[in-house]
Amino acid sequence: MQTVSSRLLQRKTPEAITREAGETGMLRTLGPLQLTLLGVGSIIGAGIYVMTGNAAANYAGPAILLSFVLAGMACVFAALCYAELASAMPVAGSAYTYAYATTGELSAWVIGWLMLLEYGIAGAAVSSGLSGYLASLLADLGMGIPGWLHVSMISTVTTQGGQHLVWSGGFNLLAMLAIAAVVVLLVRGVAESAAVNSVIVVIKLGVLLLFVLFGVGAIHRANWVPFIPPNQGGFRFGVPGIFRAASVIFFAYMGFETVSTAAAEARNPQRDMPRGILSALLLSTVAYLCVAAVLTGVVPYQRLGVPDPLAIAVDAMHYPALGLVVKFGAVAGLSSVLLALTYGQSRIFYTMARDGLLPALFGRLHPKRRTPWLGTIVLGVCMAAAAATLPIAIIGDLVSLGTTASFGIVCVTVMWHRNRFPDAPRPFRVPLGGIKVKGIWIGTVPTLGVMFCLLMALPLLIDLVGSALHGNMLPLSLLVGYLLLGAAAYVGYGYRHSQLGRAEPPRAAV
Ligand code: ALA
Repeated sequence: MQTVSSRLLQRKTPEAITREAGETGMLRTLGPLQLTLLGVGSIIGAGIYVMTGNAAANYAGPAILLSFVLAGMACVFAALCYAELASAMPVAGSAYTYAYATTGELSAWVIGWLMLLEYGIAGAAVSSGLSGYLASLLADLGMGIPGWLHVSMISTVTTQGGQHLVWSGGFNLLAMLAIAAVVVLLVRGVAESAAVNSVIVVIKLGVLLLFVLFGVGAIHRANWVPFIPPNQGGFRFGVPGIFRAASVIFFAYMGFETVSTAAAEARNPQRDMPRGILSALLLSTVAYLCVAAVLTGVVPYQRLGVPDPLAIAVDAMHYPALGLVVKFGAVAGLSSVLLALTYGQSRIFYTMARDGLLPALFGRLHPKRRTPWLGTIVLGVCMAAAAATLPIAIIGDLVSLGTTASFGIVCVTVMWHRNRFPDAPRPFRVPLGGIKVKGIWIGTVPTLGVMFCLLMALPLLIDLVGSALHGNMLPLSLLVGYLLLGAAAYVGYGYRHSQLGRAEPPRAAV
C-alpha cells in the first residue's frame, strides 16, 4: 500500500518515457527548420509589439536594451536546460514530462498547471493584442468595426490609487474569431499548421527587418541620452527599473520551449530539439535588440507607453505606407504566437490526459488527422471565453511569473536527472560543466538559470505584494485563485485517476 507522499513523488521510468515516445500515434513530420520556425513563431509577438513600449516608458527608458539582454540571458540558461532534457527525453509534453520522469507526479502536476497559465492564458492575452492591431489595420483600410467588438468585457483603468476593474460594455468577438481560426488549423493537422506557421514567421521577420532598416536613418542619438534615466523611486527607472522591465519583457521570450512540446512530431528529436530551441532564441534576441534600439532611438521613451508603440515610431519616420505594413506584420506575428501557444498547450493536455491526470477527452486523437482535436477545441473555447472577457493588463505579469517558476523547475530538473541517471543517453549536454558537492553534481548553467529566473520573478513578486498592500488585491487574488484551482483539480481528479500506479503501462488514447 502506497503512502500519499510516495504517490506524490512517484516517477515515470526512463523506459516508460522511451516507450511512450514510440507510441504516440502522431506523425513525425517536423525537421530542424520547421522546429526553429515553430519556436520563432511562438516567441515574437505581444512582447515586442505591445509590452516593450510600456516597459521603456514606465521602467527602463532606453536601457530597455539592457533589460532585453538580462531577460535573454535568463532564457538562454533555461533554453540550454530544456535542450538537454528534450534530447534525453524526446516526448510530447515538455517540462511536464521531464518533471514526471525526475522529481515526480506532484511537481509534474505543478509544472503542467503553470504551463497552462503560460500557454493558455498567455494565448488569450495575445489574441486580445491581435484583435487590437487587426481592428486598427481594418480601420486604416476603411473597414472599421465597432469598438465594442474588439475590447474585453472587463477592462482595467489605472489611476493614482492603482489598477481598477471596469465594465467596458464590450465583448472581444474579434479575439474569439482569431482563436477559432487557429483551432480549425490545428485540428486539420500539424503538417498544415507548421506550413502556415512558417509562412507567417517569414512575414513577421521580414516586417521587423523593414522597420529596423527604415528606422535606422530616423534615429536621434539624443533620445538615447541619458541611457539609464535616474531612478524616480521604486521601480521607476534607474537600475531597479531595468530589472522590472526585464521581468515585463520576459513575456517576449516565452515560447521557445514550444519546440520541446513538439518532440513527438519531430523527425529526429534528439538532434533537432536542441538546435531548434537555441536557434529560435538566438534569432528572436537579435530581432528584439534591433527593434528596441530603433524604437527608443526614433521616439523619446516617454511617448512609448501606448498599446501600439511600433506604430508611433513609424509615424515619426514619416513613411505612411510602412505603418500599414507594420500593422500587418503585427497581425501576422501575433497570429503565429497564438497558433504556437495553442499547439503547445494542446500537446501538454494530450500528454497529461494519457497519464490520467486530465480527462481522457484531452488525449483523444482524430481518427484520420491524428491530432488531439477534442482537447484542442475545449482549450480554444476556454481561451476564447477568457479573451472575450478578461483584462490583458494584469495577465502579462502573472504569465511571466508562472513562466519563471516553470523555467526554474526545468533548471533544477537537469541537475536532478544528471545525478539520478548519470549514464542516461544525453545527445546534448549543457556546457560549462559544474562542481560536485558531497557527490551531488551542481551544474554552472542550471544554477545560473535558477538565479536569473529568481531575478526575473523578484520584481514581479515585490510589485504584486506591494499593490495588494495598497488595496489592489486583484493580481494577487488571481494568482492565488489560479493556484488553488490547480490544487483542487489535482486532488479532485488527477490524484485519483493517475495511471502511474497501475500495472499496465498507459496506452495512447485513440
Ligand atoms: N513571447 C510571446 C509574445 O511575446 C508570448 O507574444
